[in-house]
Amino acid sequence: MFIRLPGRLLIVLLLLAGCSGKKSSIQQEDRKWWKEAVVYQIYPRSFKDSDGDGVGDLKGIISRLDYIKSLGVDVVWLNPIYSSPNDDNGYDISDYRSIMKDFGTMADFDSLLKGMHDRHIRLVMDLVVNHTSDEHPWFRQSSSSRESPYRNYYHWWNEERGKPTPRWSFFDVNSDAWKYDPVTKAYYLHYFSRKQPDLNWENPQVRKEVYEVMKFWLDKGIDGFRMDAFQFVAKDTMWPVLPQGYEQHIIRYYGMGPHLHEYLQEMNREVISKYDIMTVAEGAGSTLDDAMSLVDPARHELNMAYHFEGMDVGNFDPDYNLLDFKKVYTKWDSAFEDKGWISIYLGNHDQPRMLSHWGNDAPRYRDASSKMLTTFLLTMRGTPYCYYGDELGMSNIKFDRISDYRDISTINKFMHLRQTGGDTAAFIEEQKRSARDNGRTPFQWDEGPNAGFTTGSPWLKVNPDYVTVNAAAEEKDTSSVLAYFRKAVWLRKSNPTLVYGKYAVLDRDNPSVYAYTRDDGQKKFLILLNFKAAPGSFILPAEIDLTGAKRVLSNYPAAGGGQKTAEKKATPGGTQPLRPYEAVVYELSPRNSD
Ligand code: GLC
Repeated sequence: MFIRLPGRLLIVLLLLAGCSGKKSSIQQEDRKWWKEAVVYQIYPRSFKDSDGDGVGDLKGIISRLDYIKSLGVDVVWLNPIYSSPNDDNGYDISDYRSIMKDFGTMADFDSLLKGMHDRHIRLVMDLVVNHTSDEHPWFRQSSSSRESPYRNYYHWWNEERGKPTPRWSFFDVNSDAWKYDPVTKAYYLHYFSRKQPDLNWENPQVRKEVYEVMKFWLDKGIDGFRMDAFQFVAKDTMWPVLPQGYEQHIIRYYGMGPHLHEYLQEMNREVISKYDIMTVAEGAGSTLDDAMSLVDPARHELNMAYHFEGMDVGNFDPDYNLLDFKKVYTKWDSAFEDKGWISIYLGNHDQPRMLSHWGNDAPRYRDASSKMLTTFLLTMRGTPYCYYGDELGMSNIKFDRISDYRDISTINKFMHLRQTGGDTAAFIEEQKRSARDNGRTPFQWDEGPNAGFTTGSPWLKVNPDYVTVNAAAEEKDTSSVLAYFRKAVWLRKSNPTLVYGKYAVLDRDNPSVYAYTRDDGQKKFLILLNFKAAPGSFILPAEIDLTGAKRVLSNYPAAGGGQKTAEKKATPGGTQPLRPYEAVVYELSPRNSD
């Protein structure tokens, strides 16, 4: 355990707040370290290779801990680092208690964890327990005989029952989630690839095994879990026929199955409640009530979840509209205004790069639009998850050829189209906007060969823009995307208002500008974000007075001069112009607070 300075700082701020006699909306019992944290997600395969095999590894991460610390983040989430045949880059685990050979050894892991804790950074691991690898000993046993004591660890359908009720698979070339196994003459279920058989959570023994795995890592001192595909673990094992087209609404049919909450409450009782950890579910069901049911503190399940709705509103949709983006985030914020907690993220290993997704990766706008998106991420309510490389403004690599892709999801969809006579050329064009490999290219450390990621041949190509977009160059430039990221993290970490304060959207129907306030009764911030490449404007509401407001963060110099010069500010009811992708955070003078 360690004492974290930001926490202390917060206590001081809270005490001062208490002394001022003003009402604060922060209740002491609602304060949690995982709400105040800024999470940095590392895709270990692509962060830093220490041994020249072209694959990132734990020693590579260890060598860059000071860099991670310098970002100001205080939690790292690592994608899976367990033993795996890598059908789905580590999301197919063959041994939950050992480290993938490509990544190093358990001794490396122990040094990594120590190195993080020494720097007051917490570590959250991926917990992948909807499925294992088909090379996991449980599955090897389970598939060896119908009489195996492990048979019931997975979902089997014996052939004498006829063909199983159809189930759609995310990664299977034929989208078929049942794979026939001639050894025991039965089909097994795999929602993801055929090398990722689904565990049977109805079996108490499976759940017990999972809890033991969790304890193994928690007893080593890790600080939490990101629960992969967790909304899918519970299945209706009566295998009802699902309506035509159900795969278009897969979360509604696969998510939040029977007994899911019982499993979570049991897990909480057996494991989670015994440690001071953070738990975050990937996926939040298909309604706001589903999401709340996972994270309502009174239910003793998880701390937070992340939803996918925001991911569907973006540049890869020709009808993308900022109004929809605002609607999604405003709706999710209001659902969690009084209780529960959510995550805010704009990128992860399953998504294209945030810059290409909502900003503008043309060289002219890369800088401003990256900074604008960073401002959004770090000024919203909810725990922000920042994805490695977004702090530099990394963008989609946009491969032209299928042979450049490594992701099973892209490759199998392509194969399916090829087999069925689909339009593979259109698919390749579409993948330039949406493929997961866009967000998995190696971290761009410097302008040397392979961006300083490896001395070997990288497992996935490095984005050629590394020549200008790289950490070394940005370290030297005080106005870089990286420098801005650090400022934005610092602003959040030093202002509890940005963590806990109430969010209110302004000028909802403005098609270019996303404007909102954060207010906790102590301080009030106004955030103005122009999401467009054209100039925008914002009509200041009559109740907001910018006189005396401090511009505490912005991605352009103040209009008419440098950062420090007086700038033109709109009077209440007046118009505040914004340059392309301009982002400004004002701390309003106290008279604006409720
Ligand atoms: C989650 C992971 C994704 C993986 C899938 C199957 O969605 O984020 O990367 O492919 O689960 O484990």
